[in-house]
Amino acid sequence: MLNILLFGPPGSGKGTQSKKLIQHYGLKHLSTGDLLRKEIEEQTPLGRIAQHYIEKGELVPDNVIIGMIEELFNTHQNVKGFVFDGFPRTVAQAKALDNMLQHRKRTICIMIILEVTDQELLKRMLNRAKIEGRKDDEPHIIEHRIKVYKEQTAPVIDYYKKQDKAFFINGMQSEEAVFTEICEHIDKYSKCK
Ligand code: AP5
Ligand code: MG
Repeated sequence: MLNILLFGPPGSGKGTQSKKLIQHYGLKHLSTGDLLRKEIEEQTPLGRIAQHYIEKGELVPDNVIIGMIEELFNTHQNVKGFVFDGFPRTVAQAKALDNMLQHRKRTICIMIILEVTDQELLKRMLNRAKIEGRKDDEPHIIEHRIKVYKEQTAPVIDYYKKQDKAFFINGMQSEEAVFTEICEHIDKYSKCK
């Protein structure tokens, strides 16, 4: 099973690269952001909780996210693997994910971290706002999301560094060049052969 963890700040290209990766390797895309937006759209109880946090650029509480992932795992038992996009976002989530995978005799094979400057992130998200109209793509919320990433999410990198699974990629290149580099890293350094 190939489980890829695609990591990086808001707007770094996780969603864009995930789409390419699931096609190339035949995997299932697991974006907690997309799942939460769907819950909001459908105004489910979970969606109403999530909306409160997302619109402020805050993280949704760990227990809500972990419960959602657990359920998804149970409904997708026979996939070739997952591309995790935007999850785990805290060390508590990373530990919970490791437990869930271990329980199923699986593991994270590699973590890819997309590096993009704050200025470029802002530019990309403001541009996306015009196309997709995401509520959290407003300048002051974007700024807060980047701060939350640095404070609460970036520590997850160290968690996987200790497992020798973390690899940095220059996310400032073209989409195609980033994709080529990600695939090279997966093919060379994945812990799951
Ligand atoms: P989430 O949906 O995960 O958003 P995010 O991490 O903030 O990242 P984005 O989706 O904004 O960016 P991306 O990296 O996917 O970039 P993209 O490919 O779109 O989370 C949203 C919210 O949900 C969070 O703030 C939180 O509240 C909540 N949440 C989600 N998961 C959670 C969790 N696990 N725990 C707690 N809370 C959670 O690219 C961006 C733009 O750039 C696009 O327009 C794209 O076309 C363009 N682009 C991409 N690549 C390139 C390139 N190489 N060159 C130029 N442009 C490019
Ligand atoms: Mg995304």
